[in-house]
Amino acid sequence: MTNTTHYFSLGLITAAVATLTACGGGSSSNEPAVAPTISGVAATGLAISGGSVSLKCVSGTAAAVATNTDGSYNVPATGLTLPCLARVDFGTAQKLHTLVSALGNANITPVTDLVLANLVKGTAASAFDNFDAATVKTYDAAKVSAALTGVKAYLTSLGVDTSRLALDPIGTKLVAATVALPGIGDDTDQVLDQLKIKLGTKTIEAAGLELAAITPTPAPAAPTPVASSPAAAASATQPAASAPASTPAPAAQTITFAGPGAQTLGASPAALSAATSSGLAATFTSATSAVCTVSGTALTLVAVGNCTITANQAGNTGYAAATPVSITFKVAAAPLKAQAITFAQPANQTMGVATPALSANADSGLAVSFASTTPAVCTVSGVTLTLVAAGTCSVTATQTGNASFSGATAVARSFTVAAAPVVNSAANGKVLYTTNSVLSCANCHGTPPSLQKVLNGANNPTRILSAINSNAGGMGMFAGKLSTQQLNDLAAYLATPNL
Ligand code: HEC
Repeated sequence: MTNTTHYFSLGLITAAVATLTACGGGSSSNEPAVAPTISGVAATGLAISGGSVSLKCVSGTAAAVATNTDGSYNVPATGLTLPCLARVDFGTAQKLHTLVSALGNANITPVTDLVLANLVKGTAASAFDNFDAATVKTYDAAKVSAALTGVKAYLTSLGVDTSRLALDPIGTKLVAATVALPGIGDDTDQVLDQLKIKLGTKTIEAAGLELAAITPTPAPAAPTPVASSPAAAASATQPAASAPASTPAPAAQTITFAGPGAQTLGASPAALSAATSSGLAATFTSATSAVCTVSGTALTLVAVGNCTITANQAGNTGYAAATPVSITFKVAAAPLKAQAITFAQPANQTMGVATPALSANADSGLAVSFASTTPAVCTVSGVTLTLVAAGTCSVTATQTGNASFSGATAVARSFTVAAAPVVNSAANGKVLYTTNSVLSCANCHGTPPSLQKVLNGANNPTRILSAINSNAGGMGMFAGKLSTQQLNDLAAYLATPNL
């Protein structure tokens, strides 16, 4: 790597695309002020001695020159317009080629031949034979660099250690082994030796075609450098039929998705969010729609249970689909809310009098239920209270709760059920007065009642009872025979004797 002149420099190449004149001294100020030449070393691992170097350039012609015993050659560049293609003919109809992008050194070796083959996607020989100035002019530094990368991968696939290859195998002056001095070959020359062994009987033309078939053409927008790692190179040895991909393989991408964490039913979950290494938006799906659903990034909790959300990224032209990431989290029940019952104290009731509907409410808005704890006095059905007997009626209001509310504290209310009021019946009293089983009152008091001070008993059952108890006029025969109600009814009749 001594005297390394980076002819892959685009600046130098551009500067070199100029017609050179005999006394121009080169177009670059760095060039020595001598007549411009194109020189280099032709070698296969062993210097090519006595070969014939010829050039085809964008314009101008040069006479063929012979190579020296160390493989070196030197062509006057006066009148030539770069770039050129160079060929060395040697041995028995053997040929090697190189691209000449700049003045100075241009080696001609199997490696430079392969670089040119990879540039033209064919054989270097064909490119030389069918020299096309317009096409050759497009071989800028980036393309040459990419072609070299492909060559290195190919060489690696053949088992050649390319680590010792000069960074610029064209422009870095090669020191090749010679018949006289077999030990002087430099690192690049030893790579050439290895290549010669690995190629075996395969011609450099065949290798060039093989290389051109398996090396992807870099995409113009996003050039993906051809990997030179052994693994990538190994894949390059696959049969050509599967190889000539015209676009770079999509890049891998990953999803980072932690999930939203445990949720509580009834709460509003935050929007789902997942990061991707590609920066592309992730999408979400629910694998448990009975528990949770997803719309876009909106998570909706449906029921208590385990919710499983999967983050996906389907990829695009630049990225392969990511491996989906699924996260499962709990959806817990919401804590129950308290509720309270308001049950106004019912009014006391009287037997025989219609009862109002029971009424109470819970601040939850849920319906309240009623039950009687004194069924001998009163019963309840729904909100309907039924009186059974006089006494104390106790009714309990309850609300047992639901998914949102806990059960309410029961509220009990008690009230009096009074006996039905006594209703005296003059008509009944008239029947008793006239048809008494012992002896009718009418027998002694007349009809209508008027005799023997009987009207003193009008509305005065106590006076009737007193007359009986004192056996007034023989009335003692009624003692213990008449009920209070019957005495009341008789007194009512005596108040209306003409009924
Ligand atoms: C055997 C006849 C007899 C019969 C039957 C009889 N009474 Fe008399 N009752 C009398 C006589 C006589 C007196 C008046 C006594 C006196 O003047 O002290 C009297 C008095 C009364 C008086 C007035 C008492 C007072 O303090 O002034 C009442 C009221 C009366 N009877 C109601 C009844 C009724 C009601 C019946 C039917 C259940 C009845 N009696 C049946 C004979 C009878």
